Amino acid sequence: MAVTPRAGRTLEIVETGARAGGAPTAEADRRASAVTVAGAGGREPDGPSASSPYQGYVYAYPHKTAYRPLDPRPSLREVWEGEPLGNLFLYLHIPFCEMRCGFCNLFTRTGAPEELVAAYLGALERQAHAVRDALDGPRFVTAAIGGGTPTYLSAAELTRMFDLTERIMGVDLRAVPLSVETSPATATADRLAVLTERGTTRISIGVQSFIDAEARAAVRPQKRAEVETALGRIRAAGFETLNIDLIYGIDGQTDDSWRHSLDAAMEWKPEEIYLYPLYVRPLTGLGRRARDWDDHRLGLYRYGRDHLLAAGYEQVSMRMFRLPGTASATEYCCQSDGMVGLGCGARSYTSRLHYSYEYAVGAGQVRAIIDDYVRLTPRDFEVANVGFRLDPGERRRRHLIQSLLQAEGLDVAAYRERFGTEAAEDFGAELERLAERGWLEPPDRAGHASARLRLTAEGLAHSDAIGPAMFSAPVRELMAAYETR
Ligand SMILES: C[S@@+](CC[C@H](N)C(=O)[O-])C[C@H]1O[C@@H](n2cnc3c(N)ncnc32)[C@H](O)[C@@H]1O
Ligand code: SF4
Repeated sequence: MAVTPRAGRTLEIVETGARAGGAPTAEADRRASAVTVAGAGGREPDGPSASSPYQGYVYAYPHKTAYRPLDPRPSLREVWEGEPLGNLFLYLHIPFCEMRCGFCNLFTRTGAPEELVAAYLGALERQAHAVRDALDGPRFVTAAIGGGTPTYLSAAELTRMFDLTERIMGVDLRAVPLSVETSPATATADRLAVLTERGTTRISIGVQSFIDAEARAAVRPQKRAEVETALGRIRAAGFETLNIDLIYGIDGQTDDSWRHSLDAAMEWKPEEIYLYPLYVRPLTGLGRRARDWDDHRLGLYRYGRDHLLAAGYEQVSMRMFRLPGTASATEYCCQSDGMVGLGCGARSYTSRLHYSYEYAVGAGQVRAIIDDYVRLTPRDFEVANVGFRLDPGERRRRHLIQSLLQAEGLDVAAYRERFGTEAAEDFGAELERLAERGWLEPPDRAGHASARLRLTAEGLAHSDAIGPAMFSAPVRELMAAYETR
């Protein structure tokens, strides 16, 4: 198994789940807030300047490019020893898609033959056994299946995936919130029937744009009619929560065309809508100055945000909007509870160690990595291969970053209770810089600090600059070294 860091494209958006193999994009933002940065790592020749609002999508901290081979490799039993196992998140990564969209750098491959999918499920089974053996009485309180496109799997393959997960991990997926990603082409009635039957409470579909020409410009050959049919099937299947992903910043997209997509999405009354800034320069936009593209995206962001707020949605983070009262209850706390990742490149988080089997890699190596993964033996899965150890400072920083990038901000008392120190003192300099730019809500008129440290509306708009700016020096150095190797 190759574990050598390689220079890769820097505008990856998560590897997904793993983004480079690991954790759910939207899912991480939504529940796990596991942060990674897509795009933040490096600079393409005409990439974001230091002042760009689009440095990178921080969905997990530390970013996987800060992981390094663990020497010696700890057994999973050691890794999970003493960790609270009462409120765990279970994440499964399915790295397959029908097509490769022009903008997407998630960890996924196209055209996987049936035998490879079968071998992948076999490896998932071996990995699940190894992980389960390392955990004493785990209790999973929430689960997500991401990709890629999990519904690339046929109905029978999905059934096998659910069966093995429930049987081996000892989790009743019908009893916990369960989120699954799908795409217009693969949201077929038979697959959706398996998902509802197995307890899926949230389904998330990538639409990106309801305008065929824009989908084409983003190199996502999809027809509006196919999207509408898929949405109709999803609504008929009766999931509790529907999420629709849209992208802004596509070449040729205007306020009007953006509103058209937002309205078309809202016709389906989705409980959630994710608005993603495009992170790969549009092909025909190469001649444009980076600054123009930043302005384009920022303008569309503000337009989209205001449009959704006016329609009654509430803002949860820069990307996530939700109808009030539709959040599903979960005991999982992304700040302090652990995540168990299964699948090629999936990451797992304990309080002290973030790890995975595989290293982050560029999309070019995806096929080889999946081929390696399906050959791993039960013993291979018994250890954590690469990872990042979080000292108390990094734990505080992770807590700060993932709280601050949510609209509700950081609960000052909860931070104090968890760490025994004050966030405002631990991160005084960073918070001051945010305040100077008008990105942090000020104390009240009497000068009293509020109960929460919260970004202003402009601060939230600059989440993709604020997140990367909060990374510690050691994490930056590791990320930089990774990219230049
Ligand atoms: C795993 S996909 C969603 C499910 C399914 N694979 C699909 O595309 O329909 C995750 C989402 O991340 C977003 N995304 C991926 N790459 C992106 C990029 N480079 N820029 C902006 N958004 C991106 C897209 O909105 C996409 O729907
Ligand atoms: S279908 Fe989804 S995961 Fe697959 S390449 Fe397209 S955006 Fe990426």
